[in-house]
Amino acid sequence: MEFKGADILSAKQFNRGDVETVLKTAARALQYASKKKWSDILKNKLLASLFFEPSTRTRLSFETAMIRLGGSVVNSVGTQTSSLSKGETLLDTGRVIEKYADVIVMRYSQENSAEELARGAAVPVINAGDGSNEHPTQALTDLFTIQQELGSIDGLKVAMVGDLKYGRTVHSLSYMLSHFDVEMTFVSPETLKMPEHICRSLKEKNVKFKETFDMGEALREANVLYMTRIQKERFEKEKEYEKVKNSYILTREMIEQKNPKLLIMHPLPRIAEIAQDVDDLQGAAYFRQVANGLAVRMALLTMVLGKTL
Ligand code: NCD
Repeated sequence: MEFKGADILSAKQFNRGDVETVLKTAARALQYASKKKWSDILKNKLLASLFFEPSTRTRLSFETAMIRLGGSVVNSVGTQTSSLSKGETLLDTGRVIEKYADVIVMRYSQENSAEELARGAAVPVINAGDGSNEHPTQALTDLFTIQQELGSIDGLKVAMVGDLKYGRTVHSLSYMLSHFDVEMTFVSPETLKMPEHICRSLKEKNVKFKETFDMGEALREANVLYMTRIQKERFEKEKEYEKVKNSYILTREMIEQKNPKLLIMHPLPRIAEIAQDVDDLQGAAYFRQVANGLAVRMALLTMVLGKTL
């Protein structure tokens, strides 16, 4: 894909070459992400950062990326303070914000909302999470982390555990991983399985995957265990959430007994699904994943703005 001027809306836009281009650029961005060096490559560029759903990492990493590369940021956080609360459409919001900013990052509670905003905005729009649909920049962060930690993505077994129905990170991650020679295992309660349309698309591409409820078995076989939070805010009834909220809890003992070399990832925030004493195991990569997210966002911002890091 031509990155300059592109919207980043879905993992489906990326082929293997595109993913590799982002990961190479992210590797070059690490020197700035590690706080050792500042750059002015994005001087005179302005990011509009629109977050209408809660966020810590995604928003702050985009804003930090922009500022550490010499750019500037304006933001709007929460629907109550924006004209969306008055009934303005996302299409019109896009038409307006493009008059101010050179690039827009948005998180919103509805599926395909970034697409609607992008229809109104002539500047690049980056999807930072559209409801339970997708989160493509997290998936790129995840692939970059696997590459940094294990050297390569091909040949690995990746197990995704938890809320595969509402978890947008695992949706985008499955699409991105499908370009590599990997085997995926989807571990979830019956009610939170990976959506059918994603499984179908993997089958069409002849990607090897299986579905199970049993985390123990998946843990023994996997090279990478990708834990996720059960997405409380997506359930219609609190009771339904209560039934599944503690379905999977990863403990230090499980890893030490079954697979001490396992790479453990999580997009965060973590609630109870990874016990605290897992954190200082060598394979616990979720806080390193956060740092990698900054490098990936630096890479994407420079690429869509037509700059070379
Ligand atoms: C995730 C999200 O918002 O989709 N967090 C993130 O961006 N790193 C996962 C989650 O909220 O559970």
